[in-house]
Amino acid sequence: TIPVILDVDTGVDDALAILFAVAHPEIDVLGISCVAGNASLERVVQNTLRILDVANAPDIPVAAGARRPLIERARDASHVHGEGGLGTLRLPPSERTALPISSVELMHQLIQDSERPVTLVALAPQTNLALLLRQYPDITSKIERIVFMGGSASVGNATAVAEFNVWHDPEAAAIVLDSGVPTFMYGLDVFNQVAVAEEVAVALLEHETTLGRTVGSLLTNRVNAGPDSATVYSGLIGDAGAVCALVDPGALRTQIRPVRVELAGYGRGQTLVDMRQTAGEDLMHGLADVWETAEIALDVDVPRYTALFLKTLGLA
Ligand code: BDR
Ligand code: CA
Repeated sequence: TIPVILDVDTGVDDALAILFAVAHPEIDVLGISCVAGNASLERVVQNTLRILDVANAPDIPVAAGARRPLIERARDASHVHGEGGLGTLRLPPSERTALPISSVELMHQLIQDSERPVTLVALAPQTNLALLLRQYPDITSKIERIVFMGGSASVGNATAVAEFNVWHDPEAAAIVLDSGVPTFMYGLDVFNQVAVAEEVAVALLEHETTLGRTVGSLLTNRVNAGPDSATVYSGLIGDAGAVCALVDPGALRTQIRPVRVELAGYGRGQTLVDMRQTAGEDLMHGLADVWETAEIALDVDVPRYTALFLKTLGLA
C-alpha cells in the first residue's frame, strides 16, 4: 500500500477524493489535514469529519491547519461549493472532533512515525504544506513525493490564467515547488476532463446505500457557467482524479517540465509551464534558475478514471 496524507479544503470534490482514497485497497490514508479554501476552516473540518463518517473510517486522524493563506487574504469559493462547502448535500453532524494539534504537527508526527516515506496529496491551497516544509525542513527526506491538484499548463479558473488552489496561496505553492521534494502536478489540463456522465450521476441519487447517494449528490452539484449564465452540470470527479493518479498513473500522459508560480500582476497564481522543445534566449543567457521542475499531467484517459472511481466505491 501507499502511505498518504491528504491535505484538503472539503469541498465537493475533496469529499469525492476522500471517499475514493479511503475505499481504495492500495491506499493507506494515515491522516487528513484541513485548510481554508473552498470554505472556512471550521466548515472544512466539519465536512471532512462527516465525509469520514459516510466512508465508515472513524479512525483516520483529522487536524485543522491554516485558516488563511500566508500573505493573501482568505477568499472562499461558495459560488462553486455552496455556502457549507458541500453543495446541496446535508450530512448529520459527526460525533468526532479534530485532534487538538495543528495540521503541521499531525503531518510531522505521521511522517516521523511512518516506516516508509509518505506521499503528501494536496487537494487545496498549499498553506499547510508550506508551513510544514518551513518549520521542519529535514522532513523532506521522509516525503516520497508531493502530488498536488493545482495549477495548469493552459487555462485557469480563478482567473483566466490561474487555478484556484495556487491562486489562493501563490507563495505557498512556490515554496512547495522549491522544496526539493519530487512534485507531481495534477492541474486543470486533466482535472477539467474527468467527468461522470449525467445519467450515471443522477441514477446514483436513488442508490440503495448512503455512500452511493452521497456520491450522487456531490457529482450532480451544479456550477456557475459564467457571470450571466445559469448553473450547469459538470460531473467532475475533480480532486479525486489526483488520487487516481497514485494508483493508476498509466492513464495519464505526463511530462517532466520546468514550471514556476507567477507572483506579480494579473498572472499572480499562474503556474507557468515551459513547453518549449528547444532552449530560448533566456535559458541560453543564464535565466534557467527562475524555474523549478515538476512532473505534469497533460492528458488523461477519462473513461479509465471514471471507471476506476466508480468501481472502487462499489458503484459500477
Ligand atoms: C480546485 O479548487 C477547488 O475548488 C477544488 O476542490 C479543487 O481542489 C480546482 O481549481
Ligand atoms: Ca480542493
